[in-house]
Amino acid sequence: MRCAVVQTNPVFGQPAANLAEAISLMESEPADLYVLPELFTTGYNFVDAAEAAAWAEPADGPTAAALARFTAARNAHVVYGFAERGDAIYNSSALVGPGGLIGVYRKMHLYYKETTLFAPGNLGFPVFRLPFGVVGMMVCFDWFFPESARTLALAGAEIIAHPSNLVMPHCPDAMVTRCLENRVFSATANRIGAEDRGGLALSFIGLSEIVSPKGEILARLGRDTAGIAVRELDLTAARSKRLNEYNDLFADRRRSSYQL
Ligand code: ACM
Repeated sequence: MRCAVVQTNPVFGQPAANLAEAISLMESEPADLYVLPELFTTGYNFVDAAEAAAWAEPADGPTAAALARFTAARNAHVVYGFAERGDAIYNSSALVGPGGLIGVYRKMHLYYKETTLFAPGNLGFPVFRLPFGVVGMMVCFDWFFPESARTLALAGAEIIAHPSNLVMPHCPDAMVTRCLENRVFSATANRIGAEDRGGLALSFIGLSEIVSPKGEILARLGRDTAGIAVRELDLTAARSKRLNEYNDLFADRRRSSYQL
């Protein structure tokens, strides 16, 4: 399968232009699975909960509809981050395929001021069996909690689609370990640019990447430019957790001694 990470430069409060930038990058490279950044149509730096709520949309709202037109025309799938208006306001990601919306994940671990803007996720870590493999989702700061990737891998995810708006420097290198310890692929799609709103200035670090179950960085974009990186992946490589003839990373776990 062909996996793409799409690195965009959203402008706060310009959803039509931000969607158009993403679609134009997606149109430049064929892929089976495209991963877009967190909150990619709205921008990230909401000043308060009322503003986040005002920009939120239902999971089957206009962003899903626009991306479903793209995926239907190309028989592709897209994972993207958006502000979700459900029973509360969530920082969510959605998976859209040729037939429309397939599933939603609600960010479990809210970062910094997000804790004042969104409700914490309440859908667990679902995985989705697609024609080319099993996809799980996590959003940005979830990487900081190894349980996120572990839970997805234990549930059978072969690739973790990871919409992000990274501001700290650690994630791109840390995902090497997340992939290595779980023997899964990851596709982290980050944004670039900066947002200075309500007295909080944030810069986003780019470096979107695709990592293999062996911890190889198969693709990594730059810090400052929008772009798309596509790699051909054999997702069956994520099915065996065997490290060598003596070690199987999942079978060797000492669950009775772990504190969860
Ligand atoms: C983040 O979770 N957007 C840093």
